[in-house]
Amino acid sequence: MRTVKASTASLKKAAALIRAGGIVAFPTETVYGLGADGLNPQACARIFEIKGRPRFDPLILHECTAARAKKLFSKIPAGAEKLMKKFWPGPLTLVLPKSRSVPEIVTSGLPTVAVRVPANAHALALIKAAGRPIAAPSANRFGRLSPTTAAHVKKQLGDGPDLILDGGATHIGVESTIITFTRGKPVLLRPGGLPLEEIEKIAGPACKPEKTGKKRPLAPGCLKKHYSPEARLVIIEPGVAIKPAAKAAYLAFSRKPAGTWAGVQVLSRGGDLREAAANLFSALHKLENSRARVIYAERVPAKGLGRAIMDRLRRASAV
Ligand code: TXA
Ligand code: MG
Repeated sequence: MRTVKASTASLKKAAALIRAGGIVAFPTETVYGLGADGLNPQACARIFEIKGRPRFDPLILHECTAARAKKLFSKIPAGAEKLMKKFWPGPLTLVLPKSRSVPEIVTSGLPTVAVRVPANAHALALIKAAGRPIAAPSANRFGRLSPTTAAHVKKQLGDGPDLILDGGATHIGVESTIITFTRGKPVLLRPGGLPLEEIEKIAGPACKPEKTGKKRPLAPGCLKKHYSPEARLVIIEPGVAIKPAAKAAYLAFSRKPAGTWAGVQVLSRGGDLREAAANLFSALHKLENSRARVIYAERVPAKGLGRAIMDRLRRASAV
């Protein structure tokens, strides 16, 4: 398996690989995806194998235009239509009733499908050249830290993908916000790169997912434990004094802690939540490499992109 810089020639090659049933890791504006032909069940099955992902956790389909994305749905509520118009291409995934063309393996047998149009020139060129939707979860091993660089993908998946397209660091840095609709109202399934406040301005107030009472949750992939570094992660209040230790690392929001640590990362010196989100996974990858046994992570304000950051930290800290 090779890592190649994204270019006209390498994108053409990557598209041919996708059409032939191959697996290509590629950049989006949120995190790197592990892509396969979304209409080829066998190719999609390889994604689950490479990630070690359970089959009950469905995939997101990526399209290059809203017009093409809409063909993957069988019913589109008015609110969803407005969101697509306003936020695609961008870090928003919509979960709506699927059309017949979507294979069962993509949706894990659910009647709905998750679709988005990524705002990344390489991703759009790849989808366009492949001529079909690309199914792509984040390109990490199941339950582990998400990748925001090609090197992160290589570190976790090694020779799994047939090709890794290197398009540099992703600029949003956390996964897309996932929205579904129930009785015409938006429901937040996963906070992410598009702040909920912006979605609510267009589609009205969002509700929390209803408890289905079934074994399968409404958002099957939103497991309590997820996005985990190898070290134990503990969430702390900012500025609370923690005794530095040789085997402990520190993830600060805006101010460097005192003392000597196995590793220290500051998410945003200016206290900017967008910048903090963009740096979150790469900071956690670095602290994981520091071989600390525990990572203390400061709580950030739970508004705007802070909601996605806190969601990832909470799941990373779950045991
Ligand atoms: O930003 C992103 O969304 C990235 C990039 C690569 O596009 N992708 C990503 O995919 O985060 P993944 O597979 O790591 O997360 C997708 C989530 C999973 O939790 C999955 O359970 C949920 O979307 N999902 C997919 N289809 C669904 C459906 N029909 N109903 C509810 N949840 C669904
Ligand atoms: Mg993921």
